[in-house]
This record gives sequence, structure tokens and C-alpha cells, in this order.
Amino acid sequence: MEKQTERRREAEPVQMSRVIENIRRDFYEQNEKAASMPHVMKYDSVPWLQHAQAYQKFFTAHDSGEFMGGRMSRMPIRTFTVDEQILMSKGMEGVKSGSHRHYVEALFYIIEGKGYEIHDGVRYDWEAGDFMCVPTYCNHQHVNVTGKEARLFFSVPLHLGQFMGLSLIEQMEAHANYRAPDDAEVLRGSGGEFLGYKGADGLELRLGADKDDEARMNERRSRDFTETSRTTYDRYLQTLAEQNRWRREVPHVIKGKEAPWENTRMGRIKQYLSPYGPSPMLFYDAFIQEIPPGGRSGKHRHVAEEVHKILSGRGYDVHNGKRYDWEAEDVVAIPVNTEHQHFNADPRRTAVFVALQSRLYYYAGHGGIEHQEDAPEWKG
Ligand SMILES: [Fe+2]
Ligand SMILES: [Fe+2]
Repeated sequence: MEKQTERRREAEPVQMSRVIENIRRDFYEQNEKAASMPHVMKYDSVPWLQHAQAYQKFFTAHDSGEFMGGRMSRMPIRTFTVDEQILMSKGMEGVKSGSHRHYVEALFYIIEGKGYEIHDGVRYDWEAGDFMCVPTYCNHQHVNVTGKEARLFFSVPLHLGQFMGLSLIEQMEAHANYRAPDDAEVLRGSGGEFLGYKGADGLELRLGADKDDEARMNERRSRDFTETSRTTYDRYLQTLAEQNRWRREVPHVIKGKEAPWENTRMGRIKQYLSPYGPSPMLFYDAFIQEIPPGGRSGKHRHVAEEVHKILSGRGYDVHNGKRYDWEAEDVVAIPVNTEHQHFNADPRRTAVFVALQSRLYYYAGHGGIEHQEDAPEWKG
């Protein structure tokens, strides 16, 4: 019998693949695009927009839904979006958000206000200074309990869900101010609840729960494993049981009042989320940093991209030797592999910012920090 594995001589000329060249070209194009994008987004330059879940500003990505997994839209940030939403005060419409779920987790920092969450039917209270965590595939709704607006800065790795082929959003309840397109016929369930709409082209768009997905996920969530693992295959069964337990028991709110300040080489930092302790979030590292009047942070570099929301003060960053000015409410993007340092330009007032980092790089074997210069206050 003829050997099937024997290498046949290729026909001449050999046909070339340009895969390496194409990947390099794409890398250079993306780098050029990142370099030309703003590292600071001015708060007032981003409009407030109403959508089915919230009244929202989209800082890093356009609201088209065309996230183009890993591509940049408004700012040079690829692995998560950064946005802000307002819950209107009582007496006005919009005291609560809509209600929806997504396969990817979401992280909120409460800038102002007081309220609570309903996460899969369970209430979690929050107030200004807290981080509120929405675990994966968790139906969530935010409710304002005060007579003033509540303002929530938040991030979702939506690109990651798209990249992994997972459902991005199922909208169970639309926001009170939501309107379907003018020419659409709204579809409602037997209880009058909003389901979606039929467009002018006759196509139905169902926004609510995917019942097949829901049944599959509920069945998955019911799995436990109490035996002793005897094989590697058993370890997979055990992992599902452990993740189910983790999801049931993990805290959803990290209280700002309980998180300790640390005097670090990088400056005064209150770390909320890191890979080094039990964490309700798997995708994010998060902290708050203060820079004293006229002071500066340490200087460092890491592979992971990072985003800041300036809570108060004014100053500037230096990214790879280039200066970027910021003031309260702005959003600052630090792209991958960028050396960075933060300066408070105000001689009288402390500058404070919230920082989010993508932990995806840590899982990919590119975690940690290359520390380059100590903050002046660091005493060792
Ligand atoms: Fe959400
Ligand atoms: Fe950093």
C-alpha cells in the first residue's frame, strides 16, 4: 500500500502565504491608530445618550454596537469599554435602570449617590466610594434611593464576549425613558412587558431573555460535585461545582470605607481588586489613588492597559515622554506597554482618580509591574 504520510514534492513554483506580513501590517496600522487617538477624553465632549438599559456616556467606544473585538473606537483601549450612567432622582423618570444580563462581568464605581442592586433577585446596597461588582451572567438592575441623582462610572469587557462568541446582552426590562424606533411596532408579552419590536422591514427584534440559553445556564448552575476527584476529567466536574459555589457566595459590593489606604512606591493607593486575594471580579484590577498638591506619583510600566476616571483636581500624565493634561471628570487611557507617571498641577488641592486595569494580560502571562521611579512620599 502506498504510504500516506510520505511528503510529496511540492509543485513549482511554491505558493507563498503572506500571513506574517499581513499580521505585521495590521499591528503597525493599529499602533498608528492608537498613537493618533486621544489619551484624555474631555467629559463635556461626550454626549449623554439614552438606550434600553441606561442614560449613558460612552467614553472609550462608540455606541454603534460594532465593537470589532479588540479594535479601538474612541480611545486606545481594547479589552473593555468605559462608560458612565446616571440614575435620575425620585420624582423624575429613570429612578432605576433597565434590567439585563450578559455573559461577561461588569464593574461599577459609585461616584455619587446611594442605592441598591437587584442581582438575580438578591438586593445589594451601595453608596458613593464603593465598587459594585456584577458577576458573569447575572441579571442586574440599579435603583437610586435618594432625592438626588446617582452617578455610576463603569466598565464591561463586551469585546471579550463578542470575541468568545457569547451572547452580549439580553434586555429583560427596558429603561422608563426608552423608546423603540418611530416606525416600529412594539411587541409585548401577556403581562404587557416589553419584549422587543417589529421594524418597518417586517423583521422582529427580540431583546429579552433567550429561553434556550437560560435553561442551559440554569441547568449548569445547579451542578455540584461532592465526590473525591480521581481523574483529570473529575477535576473539570469539580471546577464547575467550585465556580457555581463562588458565584453564589462572592460579595458583590466592596465598601470604600473598609478598603485600607496603602503608602506604596507608586503613591497613596486604596486597592479594591487585585489577583492577590479572593475577588468578585476575575477580569479587573481596580484602585483609587491620591496625588498630593503639587506632587507626583511614582513611574512605571506594565503590559496591561489601564484607564483612569479623574474624580477631583487637575494635573497631567506623562505617557512615554508625552504630556497629557486632565481635570476632574475626564477619562484617561494608558495603552499597553506605556511608561506612565501622574502629576498634580494644583498647588493647593489633592488630585484623586479611579484606576481600572485589565487582568486579561495577567492570565496571558504578562502580569506584574516594571517599577521605574518611587513617588516622593515613599519612605521605604
Ligand atoms: Fe450591564
Ligand atoms: Fe499603571
